Amino acid sequence: MYYPDELIEEVRVKNDIVDVISGYVRLTKKGSSHFGLCPFHNEKSPSFSVSRGKQMYYCFGCGAGGNVITFLMEYENYTFLEAVQALAERAGVELPKMEYSREAKEKANLKSTLLEINKAAAQYFYVQLKAGQGKAAHDYLTNRGLSEDTIKAFGLGYSNKYSDDLYRYLQKKGYTEDLIRQAGLISTDEKHGVYDKFWNRVMFPIMDANSRVIGFGGRVMGDAKPKYLNSPETPVFDKSRNLYGLHKARSSRKPYFLLCEGYMDVISMHQAGFTNAVASLGTAFTAGHASLIKRYVQEVYLVYDSDEAGTKAALRATPILKEAGISAKVIRMDPYKDPDEFIKNLGAEEFEKRIGGARNAFMFGLEVLEKNFHMDSPEEKTAFFQEAARRLMQFEDELERNNYIEAVAKTYRVSAESLQKLVTKEAVRAGMAKPVSRPKPAGERPEKKEDPKATAQKILLTWMIDDARVFQAIRGFITPEDFTTPLYQTVAGMVYEQYENGNLNPAQIISHFQEEEEHREAASLFHTRIRELTTGQEKERALKETILRVKENSIDIRAKELHPTDMAGLQRLMNEKRNLPEIEKLHISFE
Ligand code: CTP
Ligand code: MN
Repeated sequence: MYYPDELIEEVRVKNDIVDVISGYVRLTKKGSSHFGLCPFHNEKSPSFSVSRGKQMYYCFGCGAGGNVITFLMEYENYTFLEAVQALAERAGVELPKMEYSREAKEKANLKSTLLEINKAAAQYFYVQLKAGQGKAAHDYLTNRGLSEDTIKAFGLGYSNKYSDDLYRYLQKKGYTEDLIRQAGLISTDEKHGVYDKFWNRVMFPIMDANSRVIGFGGRVMGDAKPKYLNSPETPVFDKSRNLYGLHKARSSRKPYFLLCEGYMDVISMHQAGFTNAVASLGTAFTAGHASLIKRYVQEVYLVYDSDEAGTKAALRATPILKEAGISAKVIRMDPYKDPDEFIKNLGAEEFEKRIGGARNAFMFGLEVLEKNFHMDSPEEKTAFFQEAARRLMQFEDELERNNYIEAVAKTYRVSAESLQKLVTKEAVRAGMAKPVSRPKPAGERPEKKEDPKATAQKILLTWMIDDARVFQAIRGFITPEDFTTPLYQTVAGMVYEQYENGNLNPAQIISHFQEEEEHREAASLFHTRIRELTTGQEKERALKETILRVKENSIDIRAKELHPTDMAGLQRLMNEKRNLPEIEKLHISFE
């Protein structure tokens, strides 16, 4: 543990959750709660609620929830400690300076240790670039037109030719092989043992919105393959939830982002003064990227490569942006391959002109489509308009749809009226009822397989938290020790204590957990909904079964741990076992 619970609690209580979240999300008061658009998934009507009374938030759409600390951890991608520090500063609470041994720290917080390792690696690469052995890499960057300031601003570096010197450097700093591997910086094979993942490459540290190094991209200096090598996904590196250059773009003060494909594109654009450029990290653009962008701007200009792949990627990105409520425009870089080459050849002024001439993404999509049809053949021309009509159908809003119909009619010189009829016809043909397929919400994490015994404990705990009557009915049968999963046991201990003192305080329990995984798991206990069972009887039946399952499991486990000479312990267990049928007789009224 870093800070005592009382201090964490002081920080939490001094930061009212409604005030804090209002700084990020526009909230409107409705009844006892405040509602807004959930920042953790894409939505058009508010299902994100914040309760001042409970000091908790919860999204009915995606299930995100927790207390004020959880919110900052999720929104800013902070570790527990960073979230507490930010809130302490906000409320003017002084936190004591504390130095911890590396072991203590590693145990307490994997994520912050991995960030620390990444930072050390980035510094190492940077020093290598500036040293003699990095001359070729430095020349490479200079030849690509990067200034010394730019190299520094993006923290570019060099991973040299020795196969394991970063590994040895980090070990010397005290990090274990296991941690360095978890940071994605080393690999192992039978022949060579442990070796650095990045070797003789120009290094691009990847930073999150808060300028923390979360991963790396490394480029070869010649034509070898692969051209770029990237860090694998790690606990701190989620490619679909980060954008290269975001830490700078977020404060560019422009109302839109320039979204491009590559590291070098972002860097060139920034150097030319377009500090609102970002790139998805060598992966396809996702709904996660879109909701991240939505936090900062409402409009995106796509500056993808001019080749077919780039065009396709731009067309794939536009519906995802639209779904998130971001309007998209497309900028072409022809006759050059990408923004980097465009700027190098034509300069910032010409680039600025292209921004001015950006095309609406929908119209751009039609232009690309048109190339597949011989427009002087009446048959093919008709087929083109049919496809155009199908696309126009996707605009759910009538006014918007009509505006687009008019624009298309004007561009392709047909009457708006006949195009309108075609759209209606296509809509009827398609049955219109077909739902638009929506991209997955951003906040989704892969589901972990759960142990049924742990699940029973979780359900029982959630139930007790949700309904004080359940607690009162079962406190005589179930003690916190019956929750054999350590995290549930701790939570149960606190829940029992708080109920006995007459004040259940979920927000306080959650912030007891300072390690990320545990914090999330604990937070989830307080917003897991029990499946709605129709009758009180059904509920009672389900509850009894759950209690039995938890109790039986607890007896099992304690029996296994029992010392053979512990007669008193054995006696206790036998009594508990004999008492099991009593649970059957339990009556809990849910009416
Ligand atoms: N990329 C990758 N792995 C590869 C190739 C590309 O991760 N093997 C990602 C990188 O993020 C790269 C982006 O896709 O920046 C675009 O690829 P590409 O257009 O091939 O590279 P450029 O950015 O143009 O790189 P450069 O100008 O250095 O050739
Ligand atoms: Mn390029």
